[in-house]
Amino acid sequence: MKKLIVANWKMNPSSLAEAGRMLSAFAKITVPKNTEAVVCPPFPYLVAAHKAFHGTRYALGAQNAFWETAGAFTGEVSPAMLRSAGVDYVLIGHSERRKFLGETDEEIAKKVRASLDADLRVILCVGEPAAVRQKGIAAARKFVLKQLGNFFSLPKDDLARLTVAYEPIWAISTMGGKPAGDSPESAGDIAVQIKEFLSLRAKAETGSDGSVRVLYGGSVNSKNAPSFLRESAIDGVLVGGASLHANEFKKILGGGF
Ligand code: PGA
Repeated sequence: MKKLIVANWKMNPSSLAEAGRMLSAFAKITVPKNTEAVVCPPFPYLVAAHKAFHGTRYALGAQNAFWETAGAFTGEVSPAMLRSAGVDYVLIGHSERRKFLGETDEEIAKKVRASLDADLRVILCVGEPAAVRQKGIAAARKFVLKQLGNFFSLPKDDLARLTVAYEPIWAISTMGGKPAGDSPESAGDIAVQIKEFLSLRAKAETGSDGSVRVLYGGSVNSKNAPSFLRESAIDGVLVGGASLHANEFKKILGGGF
């Protein structure tokens, strides 16, 4: 399976002009054949990104979507609107949204459902806070599987369009993460648990595994990306800070994993 490398620009850069410069630099980078690359800029830059990536192997991602299809929901953006702007992927439930906007597991479940219904591919973000991880890897595993509880009964077709990004909150750069982030081995261990958990029902029904992909995120850069990408249970990386620099992103894409 191709490795999936996702750039999460978060609330950057600060102007459309700067976004245009970044998009041109990214569009010049050749995405290797063994890799799928997704860039998730802020909403106001999506249309420019769609144009800039025309004819390249980049897919376009958004950083959030609402659960309703249309109507009086001031400030919200529907999955169908994103789809019509050329968006393929959407990040749902990022820990910064859980923390600063108070997004709950229930709201996140509704957003995932609506996004899948609108034919978007969903990257669902999960991950434990530092206080949980201090209790050990078993506590982290339990926390993450609880966050995934609402998705246990997703049918196989939905699982095929769902990617889970495991991002331990304490490893994210803006949350005080260290450059090395989590260890590839423990990230791989959690990735295995996530896959087993989500494929249980599909397995019972069809006898085969659901094909949910799992990414690792948290202070990923060009130096540590290959060690995460070499873990067999890790299907890609979600990159924040380092994805703001075209050169760094190019090195991650061409990292020889
Ligand atoms: P980071 O962010 O790479 O800057 O740690 C990752 C993320 O929050 O998606």
